[in-house]
Amino acid sequence: MFRLSPRLRRILAHVRPGHPVWDIGCDHGALGVTAVMQDRVPCAVLVDHAQKAITRIEDALPVTVDRDRLRLLATDARRLPPEPVTGTVVCAGLGARKIADILTAFVLPNRAKDLRLVLEAHGPTQDLDALLGQHGYRQVAQETVHEGRKDRSIAVYDPSAFAKQTAKTLAARRRRPGEDATGPRKD
Ligand SMILES: C[S@@+](CC[C@H](N)C(=O)[O-])C[C@H]1O[C@@H](n2cnc3c(N)ncnc32)[C@H](O)[C@@H]1O
Repeated sequence: MFRLSPRLRRILAHVRPGHPVWDIGCDHGALGVTAVMQDRVPCAVLVDHAQKAITRIEDALPVTVDRDRLRLLATDARRLPPEPVTGTVVCAGLGARKIADILTAFVLPNRAKDLRLVLEAHGPTQDLDALLGQHGYRQVAQETVHEGRKDRSIAVYDPSAFAKQTAKTLAARRRRPGEDATGPRKD
């Protein structure tokens, strides 16, 4: 149940190591649970408005996972009460419009100044891109993964103030092939 597909593996590669990850629209929960089990992140918040998705995750959690490092929330992410959002927010496999609504309602008003966004949106993304631009986000990486007979576009956004640092990290990593595309920032 918590096995990562090649698409989810690439998404995980863009999550900021050592910082919390929010997996919004988590469904099977594989991303957040794996991120914690691999000690890539200290903790994960898994959000899905389908109670049955959250119950399925709870029922399938391996005994070896530290339950205190996972928060499972069965709620519409657009209705989450305000709280600081730090680390990385992942929204994958959702429509671009829905992602924009979730970002507007919860993520952007509560974001830490260095919050990274890793988005895999379905449908046209012009409005989403415009929204992120208005909030000072810049795309720092993009890749396409083929899954389920479709090309899935994974886009990574950092606040502009941090994007320069990410670009430097990416350039250094390209000189050392075989490492993740985006890695720790010195921030
Ligand atoms: C297609 S699945 C994607 C699952 C996973 N993120 C992935 O990429 O493999 C989309 C999930 O988002 C959830 N979802 C849709 N709208 C949501 C919302 N407003 N708040 C929270 N979860 C939502 C659905 O219940 C579903 O489980």
